[in-house]
Amino acid sequence: MEKRKIIIDTDPGQDDAVAILLALASPEEIEVIGITCVAGNVPLALTSKNARIVCELAGRPDVPVYAGCDKPLGRKLVTAEHVHGETGLNGPVLPDPVMPLRDGHAVDFIIDTLRRAPAQTITLCPLGPLTNIAKALKKAPDIAERVQEIVLMGGAYFEVGNITPAAEFNIYVDPQAADIVFRSGIPIVVMSLDVTHKALVTPARNAAFRALGTPVGTAVAQMTDFFERFDKEKYGSEGAPLHDPCVTAYLIDPALFSGRHVNVTVETQSELTMGMTVADWWGVTGRPPNAFFAGDIDADGFFALLTERMGRL
Ligand code: RIB
Ligand code: CA
Repeated sequence: MEKRKIIIDTDPGQDDAVAILLALASPEEIEVIGITCVAGNVPLALTSKNARIVCELAGRPDVPVYAGCDKPLGRKLVTAEHVHGETGLNGPVLPDPVMPLRDGHAVDFIIDTLRRAPAQTITLCPLGPLTNIAKALKKAPDIAERVQEIVLMGGAYFEVGNITPAAEFNIYVDPQAADIVFRSGIPIVVMSLDVTHKALVTPARNAAFRALGTPVGTAVAQMTDFFERFDKEKYGSEGAPLHDPCVTAYLIDPALFSGRHVNVTVETQSELTMGMTVADWWGVTGRPPNAFFAGDIDADGFFALLTERMGRL
């Protein structure tokens, strides 16, 4: 399989952190061209700090990290400290980053990278609100045809919402941005709550991270120990749902996932269902399919891959 060159757009977030670690642990399959940070789980100052903490935990201070948008396109920022803690990376005690942010705005890095690279050779991997991606598409519409694929974590259909009854957090924070992305014509793969709620860090899976006996294995176990509270309380889940690592795992082994090409349209008008991803799973609307919407995951295979790769760092 051709190695993927990717830009990770992220709002770390413990699950973002694991997604970044998995990407950096998989150089045969993935080349991380850069990491762009966005406000989401916590404000931008923290997401752009946390992304660098994770790069240094992985021993990769060379990875370019850029700060991006500090608020959604047209709505007030909603954050999720109630899930991720006040730093966004609660759980392990990790040193502040030494590596600096790169100069320049994340949106310009995305645009410049796509314009410099041969067309369709860069994959965008949004793990947070889609503000940076939408801003780049608005500022430079020419880049849409240059993107190989967008593989994102966001949305929900059968699982419905996790921040409101109708909407998943990443899409809810910036529904206008999500609407721009889903209407862009770029090939999109959606890792929604429908699959990520099946990727749960059970006690046995958490113990496997700890059993690695490495700083990364221990940190991942501590992150998921902290991060599981919200979902265990709300859903009675067996453990933390590893939302964002599903994006990275898809790039490494797409056979772990199954789903359908369907139309996904984002609610941007009604406050009642704001940010809902209306996936036409049964093909009743006649709206053209615009995304591969993952519906199921081989969870044991996912955790076997993740644990093996964490052991490499
Ligand atoms: O709804 C889950 C998503 O929102 C994940 O990406 C999590 O990190 C938060 O960004
Ligand atoms: Ca995220």
